[in-house]
Amino acid sequence: MRADMKAELVPDMLTELRAATAEAHARLDRAFGALDLADRDGLTRFLSAHAIGMEPLFPAFRSFVEDELGMACPDYPAMLREDLRSLGDDQDGLPQLAVAPALRAPRAQVGVSYVVAGSRLGMAVLRRQGYWGDRTASGTAGRYMEDESGHAVWKSLMPWLKGQSFDQGEREAVTAAALAAFSSFASAFAVSAGRKNTMETGADG
Ligand code: HEM
Repeated sequence: MRADMKAELVPDMLTELRAATAEAHARLDRAFGALDLADRDGLTRFLSAHAIGMEPLFPAFRSFVEDELGMACPDYPAMLREDLRSLGDDQDGLPQLAVAPALRAPRAQVGVSYVVAGSRLGMAVLRRQGYWGDRTASGTAGRYMEDESGHAVWKSLMPWLKGQSFDQGEREAVTAAALAAFSSFASAFAVSAGRKNTMETGADG
């Protein structure tokens, strides 16, 4: 087969990432989607799982957004910290996940950024469905949920992914990093189940 014909058969990186992570997304969508965000504890669990899962991913996301896309990066860890503080959550107790080797590979930033930026699409859906608290009041836990700047990152990332070419090794590294990023949120969802926040535990700990 001629090289130019072969190149035509290789899907762009966005298409490849969508196909490779569709199942992981569906699982996560079901897990997070089952939480009742209208309930204070449900929202606390949701945000704490995002904080735990985001932690190992954020340095890669920030470097990519700032250095490669040339955009200001939304500070999700800070938003999540503030939101959890508003809910009285004890963040000293947040478990830390190990950083998977796939997240350290060259070009891992691309796969991680696909997952973190793409997750804002789901957030927009959940925001429209509503969540606990008055989002207009001060002290609300809606900083992470209401952020719009991540959508701008997604809109820049899509053409970047479609236009960039990657060799086979890079494609595999990008895909492995995206799957590891989904796993980070999945593990975070699982470990967040055992947590209790300071408001819940109260005097009897
Ligand atoms: C940590 C949790 C989540 C992560 C990491 C995540 C990740 C992603 C990614 C990467 C995309 C982009 C897919 C693409 O167009 O290539 C996406 C899209 C989307 N997600 Fe999620 N997601 C999460 C949770 C959710 C939840 C809970 C929902 C349920 C409401 C959801 C609903 C959606 C929807 C509706 C889209 C847009 C699909 C489209 O327009 O084609 N996501 N998400």
